[in-house]
Amino acid sequence: MRRQIPGTINLVKLKNEPHGKSINFEADMRIYLLGFMGSGKSTLGQRIAGAFHVPFFDTDNVVEAQSGMTIPEIFSVYGEEYFRHLEADILRQTNFYPKSINSTGGGLPCFEHNMDWMKESGITVYLQWPDDLLRQHLLQIRQTRPLLSQFTESEAGMKISDLLTYRKPFYEQSAITIEMTGNIDSDYNLLEKTCKYIW
Ligand code: S3P
Repeated sequence: MRRQIPGTINLVKLKNEPHGKSINFEADMRIYLLGFMGSGKSTLGQRIAGAFHVPFFDTDNVVEAQSGMTIPEIFSVYGEEYFRHLEADILRQTNFYPKSINSTGGGLPCFEHNMDWMKESGITVYLQWPDDLLRQHLLQIRQTRPLLSQFTESEAGMKISDLLTYRKPFYEQSAITIEMTGNIDSDYNLLEKTCKYIW
């Protein structure tokens, strides 16, 4: 049965599961944080996991630890496709942590049936930023992201728009969408409310 918390409905949009399937909040304890690159999944996820004393699993960190390479190195030496296989494999390792926060790479939900797998394996939470704010933020940090770093500012802006158009339909399948503000403390509070709501 889906639950609702009065007062948070403007902050947390509850979405209908496709095919009318309802979520069992009691059994599905694992939380997957999804969203575009730079949306705060790792920073907020780590902080919230600490506050709730649950394991934190970050697919990007585990890819780097298990391969012994940085993500930009993996992209440049082996290419994106290889990276996508690695992250899909690592996602499936989150099965070991029943009640946990799992932060996922920005492209992960769009490859290898990962979105379907996460919906089956836990509660998916989309950290949704307003497009303009996200674009502004990403243009400042684009050198750290291999999908953007080779582009000029205007090319990177176009790449972000293209990726957003393609990826949103995947993110939007999430059970819960949090409307982010770009303010780290407010956004943390929203995520905290969401975790209390789920757990
Ligand atoms: C990617 C996002 C990155 C990382 C890789 C690819 C993407 O993670 O997985 O660089 O395709 O959007 P963040 O979302 O943590 O930046």
